[in-house]
Amino acid sequence: MTTAKPSRQRHVAITGASSGIGAALARAHAARGDRLSLAGRDPDRLQAVADECAALGARADVTRCDVTDADATAAWLRAADDAAPVDIVYANAGIGGAGVIAPWTAEPGELARAIFATNTVGVVNTLTPLIDRLVARRAGHLVVIASLAALAGLPHSPAYCGSKAAIRIYAEGLRRLLRPAGVRVLTVNPGFVATPMSASLPRQGPFTWSAERAAATILRAVDAGRAELTFPWPLRLALAATRLLPTAWVDAALARAYAKDQGR
Ligand SMILES: NC(=O)c1ccc[n+]([C@@H]2O[C@H](COP(=O)([O-])OP(=O)(O)OC[C@H]3O[C@@H](n4cnc5c(N)ncnc54)[C@H](OP(=O)(O)O)[C@@H]3O)[C@@H](O)[C@H]2O)c1
Repeated sequence: MTTAKPSRQRHVAITGASSGIGAALARAHAARGDRLSLAGRDPDRLQAVADECAALGARADVTRCDVTDADATAAWLRAADDAAPVDIVYANAGIGGAGVIAPWTAEPGELARAIFATNTVGVVNTLTPLIDRLVARRAGHLVVIASLAALAGLPHSPAYCGSKAAIRIYAEGLRRLLRPAGVRVLTVNPGFVATPMSASLPRQGPFTWSAERAAATILRAVDAGRAELTFPWPLRLALAATRLLPTAWVDAALARAYAKDQGR
């Protein structure tokens, strides 16, 4: 992958910057001297990340903002852009881990709606407020943190997989819509990354990356103007196989594996 580290300071807006991948992205941009506008719900953890960025020499402004609130998210992003034109928007905030695991043979509607509200509608709320400005400037980068779970419907969390598949295809369409206007869109499909979200699962997932490694890889993909980044490759291969093998086999194997996982 060719990378071209930008020479000028950029203004980077990140949702879900108070933890995990979002916090690691903030620190990675701070280390480059970029200006940061950070959003999250937990003010103390958000401020702690901003302090780390400041210690790295970056300016980091924080805003408490829930991405399911479209008006608040738009107001935060437009105010940040008024202060200094935003170059990169990371739609990173999401819910996952143990909290989105479907109980055996049932996934309550309330849980599914909450997952889609944050992981799908929250991403729409984050990407849309600045699109007209980026198009007018013929510049800018939108980055969507989806998931490997976007590549297949898995029995442990149908709504999580569906919420991530929706934003993956949404971002793909946006990329093709905005390309002539000079606005880039990158979709990221991470496998397991060591964060509080993955730590909530009963055991560590295979091929787990550190948040720092994930953030550094994402930054290289942004620099290279890539369309999509999916890691790690062994899990990418395994999920791609679910599309190539007969559906009846895949259904039976995944249902059996989840039942075994649940001690059935
Ligand atoms: N870790 C993994 O293995 C993994 C794998 C694939 C994809 N991902 C995706 O990567 C993204 C980041 O996850 P992570 O692993 O870094 O998890 P994390 O450590 O739990 O962080 C999640 C972040 O999202 C924020 N958030 C959640 N709901 C929000 C809401 N309604 N409004 C605003 N912010 C909200 C949280 O803010 P507060 O803490 O302030 O509430 C937190 O900053 C998510 O979209 C996740 O689905 C993670």
